[in-house]
Amino acid sequence: MTALTLSTAAAPGLRADAIVIGVAKGAKGPVVAPGAEAVDKAYDGRLAGVLETLGASGAEGEVTKLPAPSGFKAPLVVAVGLGAEPEKDSAFGAEALRKAAGAAARALAGSKKAAFALPIGDAGDTGAVAEGALLGAYSFDTYKDNGNSGKAKNGKAPLAEVALLGGKPRDKAYKAAVQRATAVAEELNRARDLINTPPNDLNPQSFAALAQTAAKEHGLKVQVLDEKALEKGGYGGILGVGAGSQAAPRLVKLSYTHSKSAKHLAFVGKGITYDSGGISLKPAGHNETMKCDMSGAAAVFAAVVAAARLGLEVNVTGWLALAENMPSGSATRPGDVLRMYSGKTVEVLNTDAEGRLVLADALWAASQEKPDAIVDVATLTGAMVLALGHRTFGIMANDDAFRSALHEAAEEVGEPAWPMPLPEHLRKGMDSPTADIANMGERMGGGLVAGLFLREFVGEGITWAHLDIAGPAFNEGGPFGYTPKGGTGSAVRTLVRVAELTASGDLG
Ligand code: BES
Ligand code: MN
Ligand code: ZN
Repeated sequence: MTALTLSTAAAPGLRADAIVIGVAKGAKGPVVAPGAEAVDKAYDGRLAGVLETLGASGAEGEVTKLPAPSGFKAPLVVAVGLGAEPEKDSAFGAEALRKAAGAAARALAGSKKAAFALPIGDAGDTGAVAEGALLGAYSFDTYKDNGNSGKAKNGKAPLAEVALLGGKPRDKAYKAAVQRATAVAEELNRARDLINTPPNDLNPQSFAALAQTAAKEHGLKVQVLDEKALEKGGYGGILGVGAGSQAAPRLVKLSYTHSKSAKHLAFVGKGITYDSGGISLKPAGHNETMKCDMSGAAAVFAAVVAAARLGLEVNVTGWLALAENMPSGSATRPGDVLRMYSGKTVEVLNTDAEGRLVLADALWAASQEKPDAIVDVATLTGAMVLALGHRTFGIMANDDAFRSALHEAAEEVGEPAWPMPLPEHLRKGMDSPTADIANMGERMGGGLVAGLFLREFVGEGITWAHLDIAGPAFNEGGPFGYTPKGGTGSAVRTLVRVAELTASGDLG
């Protein structure tokens, strides 16, 4: 991964492949952002004009390359757009900094070292630039050039080194901000790797094995229920979904504990390593990216490891509900009734509504420990993509205050999210003549119906929220800001923030 350091060096004397500066959109054209004074001076104070001549406007995500002024050791200046210039006496927002740093890092793929001279006024800004740069530099090359060279044949190796100019390497707060950004970005990028890994290589067993390795490395407790243990425990939902696959399902429990804390959060992730739809097979056009259906479990996994690396004063249990949804002679049929871990029976009307079945068992398992709150994360419904698009996830909850707190946490870390309701009248659409409930209801409002189904498997009195990340989990379009093509790592940063806020007593 990209290495990141704080540096007090002055831009002109710095040996690097490029100097990154910020340019904002001012009322009368591009404006050079603070941090780039030395570069502007070397251009005789005419840098804004030079940028305008080159067509730069300062718009978000815009990248303009120009030769460095004479006397600079670095040959190249990369001016990255920060969007609208802030009002007088206010600074650039954290998300503008993250996005700009991400776009710059991506534009510098193939380079060894870049110095970032972006406007960082405090430790928080430093963390934002660090996070953006580390996330933006990400690329997934494992399956190019056999993954042997560390360098993709068809692409460029990620930017290897970033020096943040203007950072204070001896200041505790700055150091902590870089440490936090590094831990979060590294784990988030690992989640992206998992999501991007093709389903012939990532199945429930191999995912569980990775969790065991990570647990050892980070001092977490890990428990893996294999198909025999699931059978013995009565996990009918997870077993039912995995029944059609050669790769048997798993339920992984990862626990991070802090001896000084009595607070307990549970994170539950949907981990369908491939969703073919099962017997209710998805048509071509709807299954090519369904390796991403374990994005919720990847997010939970990354967040628990990040919480451990940050030593947060809170106990966090991660539950990964892992199965592959495949059609075969042993697969669950539409019409089958499953007896779930909670004891409830479910009539499976559509085997493509599998996420809620594995989550139901994991939610009930998580509930048995009576945590203070449960947050589940899932690529659950196409309906949520229709409702909110590809960049925003939906938040449902059995508690209004908790839903609002999650929404706030998401916005704070730069993850667009929106509250969604759980309308009681949609529950009766899931009434089954045969079982306690069906796994499908009304088509309209399908994301909310799924949320109502999950709610039935949350233990009495436990605060719970559900994040439907089906939209933002996987980016089929071009990269933007610090978001790459493919797996995005959606919800990781929101979960980490929720853990931090719980640790500091600012949530729940
Ligand atoms: N994994 C899908 C949801 C999905 C769709 C994720 C698009 C990412 C992008 C989920 O398992 C599914 O198939 N849901 C069905 C439920 C329906 C059968 C009730 C859906 O949304 O169509
Ligand atoms: Mn499905
Ligand atoms: Zn699915």
